[in-house]
Amino acid sequence: MSKKVKIILAITTTLVIVILFLLNSENENIDFVKKENKKQEDLFLKGENLFRKNECNACHYIGMNLVSTAPALGGITKRRKKDWLYRYTKMSLEMHEEGDSIAAEIRKKGWGAMPSYPKLTNEQLDAIYFFVEKRYEMTLKGIPVKR
Ligand code: HEC
Repeated sequence: MSKKVKIILAITTTLVIVILFLLNSENENIDFVKKENKKQEDLFLKGENLFRKNECNACHYIGMNLVSTAPALGGITKRRKKDWLYRYTKMSLEMHEEGDSIAAEIRKKGWGAMPSYPKLTNEQLDAIYFFVEKRYEMTLKGIPVKR
């Protein structure tokens, strides 16, 4: 074998190894995304179940973009701090009694009171508000609400 052929062979082998390596790491990335999606899907379904089971949708439109007998919840995690949101869902009445300024502001709109959910854990609220925001994103993309 001439020196030239050996060099070409060496370069080709290196290229093949690099390409295989890249392809392989790309697969790992795809798997990673799939795993992330699975996690997100679980959280979404958990949140949707809790939203329906606690009948939030009796007053808050489940498409999250329209006002019904209560304010639309889409984008709420950007409008409110997490601590406020979680405490409010658990005990809005207490917050009113304490004179919370945001609670007072909402009350001015005349919707009336919202029930308290002291039994919901922060973990469950994470799922509920993940669902709220994802469902809102879906509505904005034109994906209809499941009956
Ligand atoms: C019986 C009707 C009813 C149900 C059921 C209900 N809500 Fe409400 N919700 C309201 C009303 C009315 C308001 C406005 C309260 C006020 O003005 O004091 C409100 C306000 C809110 C707010 C504050 C909105 C803002 O702009 O800051 C959040 C967050 C919220 N609800 C989440 C939920 C979640 C989550 C559930 C289910 C676990 C739920 N609500 C169940 C009627 C309801």
